[in-house]
Amino acid sequence: MITDNFGREMNYLRIAVTDKCNLRCTYCMPHENMVFLPKKEILTYEELLRIITIFSDLGVNKVRFTGGEPFVRTDFIDLLEYTSKLEGINNVNITTNGVFTYQHLDRLKEIDGLNLNISLDTLIPEKFIKITRRNAFDSVMKTIEKSISIGIRTKLNMVVQQDVNDNEIVDFIEYFMSSPIDVRFIEQMPFNESTHFKSICDAEKIKSILLEKYELMPQPHQKNRTTADYKIDSSKFTIGIIAAYTRNFCNTCNRIRLTSTGKIKTCLYADPGLDVRELLRNGTSDKQIGELLTNTIKNRFKDGIEAEKNRKTYILESMSKIGG
Ligand code: GTP
Ligand code: 5AD
Ligand code: SF4
Repeated sequence: MITDNFGREMNYLRIAVTDKCNLRCTYCMPHENMVFLPKKEILTYEELLRIITIFSDLGVNKVRFTGGEPFVRTDFIDLLEYTSKLEGINNVNITTNGVFTYQHLDRLKEIDGLNLNISLDTLIPEKFIKITRRNAFDSVMKTIEKSISIGIRTKLNMVVQQDVNDNEIVDFIEYFMSSPIDVRFIEQMPFNESTHFKSICDAEKIKSILLEKYELMPQPHQKNRTTADYKIDSSKFTIGIIAAYTRNFCNTCNRIRLTSTGKIKTCLYADPGLDVRELLRNGTSDKQIGELLTNTIKNRFKDGIEAEKNRKTYILESMSKIGG
């Protein structure tokens, strides 16, 4: 298993399979003028499988494909199935907005141990349109309901925005509490294709809103988790709070990211680094790529705060391009 320069075991690769997204969430990208890249700039499936194999030789055993909606990319389900069969990869997961996922759920169910993380910021259809600027509420809800009912391990992600959906935190609990699901409330982050950002509803505030109504039973902290987990009874329903902007979980961070264009990010908040696409396309051997990746992993920042301080560029990228 490869460790970074702080002794953290780096076994988790997060991959953005496309820079495109079918929604336009207000906290993630502008309404219009999003420029998406020509296909040749995006890693092909062959390239992705090659790089995942190289990572797996270094000790990566968990992969998460992230969106947007990974299923906007043709035949993504095949990539997923191939990846789940690669030697050394024993856990494959998806983070998605859920819009095009429904028709693939039966095949997802067949992938052992798959976690499906679905974004949902509101239970009110009209508000969904305001937040995402698209009319897809019913598709997402259909995906969530079927995913739970056929027994896929499902987690919901709600990005909490003050005066937009913070008043729905309790509604989410009431709506989902009888389901075997994790509902996670996430601090907003600056990855939104602009220099404008102000985070207001932080993890403490989210917790205080929950405590007004519920007695929260803290759950044991699981290794490498970004969530602070709570239960309100003994059911399978779990509440998670993710301090994505406060960044209080970096000391166990085991994540390495691959952007859709093949750049490595050793931290969500760091500048994009090693250009793997260039290496894959210029005849560099697997062994040499493995060595360059090792070197990159041995040069991580201590945490996301340091990574941000050391950026040479403004944070402009959208989450959908980074790998979640
Ligand atoms: P698993 O632990 O594999 O279940 O993944 P996850 O829950 O981290 O995955 P998901 O893609 O659903 O991420 C949920 C949210 O957590 C993202 O929207 C981010 O806001 C936040 N997040 C995920 N990874 C990181 C990270 O490395 N750093 C920070 N600061 N936030 C992260
Ligand atoms: N801040 C926090 N979370 C974000 N996501 C997208 N943009 C942001 C942001 N600016 C979330 C999505 C999804 C995951 C991939 O990232 O809602 O759950
Ligand atoms: Fe890891 Fe950076 Fe996220 Fe911290 S902010 S958990 S170091 S990716």
